[in-house]
Amino acid sequence: MKILIVYHSDYGSTEKLARAIAAGAAAAVPEATITLRQVLQTEPEELPQYDVLVFGTPVHMGTMCWQMKRFIDRTSKLWLEGTLEGKIGGVFATGGGYGGGGGGVEQTLIALHAHFLEHGMIVVGFPKSLPGYADGGLHWGLYGRTGDHEGMPVGVSEGCQRAARSYGMHLAEIAQRWIS
Ligand SMILES: Cc1cc2nc3c(=O)[nH]c(=O)nc-3n(C[C@H](O)[C@H](O)[C@H](O)COP(=O)(O)O)c2cc1C
Repeated sequence: MKILIVYHSDYGSTEKLARAIAAGAAAAVPEATITLRQVLQTEPEELPQYDVLVFGTPVHMGTMCWQMKRFIDRTSKLWLEGTLEGKIGGVFATGGGYGGGGGGVEQTLIALHAHFLEHGMIVVGFPKSLPGYADGGLHWGLYGRTGDHEGMPVGVSEGCQRAARSYGMHLAEIAQRWIS
């Protein structure tokens, strides 16, 4: 099983979650090959070789960052060819979280879903029964809050990183079931 985690991160929080997802996936399926890539260093042509695609972005102005959207727009040739159909997809996002609702994080995760579904992929959310749901789960995927109540950046909590690990395990387990 080959897993690719693609992310953008300005200050390191989204990257931290990407690494925790990778660690969880590796723990669940030790024989899996897991690749972590910054989105600006990833080419769409690389995607078809993977079984599982996990995309992560900081929330910027209520939705995904431009770096991720630009990358997704560049996957249109793969969409035309249907190359990503049937692949497993996972999503995660971090946000400063202005307001208890997360400042646009659900919109961001759903926007990533929409792109995966447009490609004919199978989207895996974060079920509430998974360990860590209370610290980083939304049924759409993984969410890391990076700001405190005053809007100051504080980074992602340990609990959220544990949730990321749990999500990584879940993704790898689901993919293993699907592939075999
Ligand atoms: C241009 C910009 C716009 C942002 N807009 C939002 C927003 O709409 N909602 C939110 O919750 N956080 C917002 N933030 C805070 C980021 O989500 C936060 O910096 C991010 O979670 C940090 O992740 P990183 O360390 O991976 O860059 C914004 C940050 C920047 C730089």
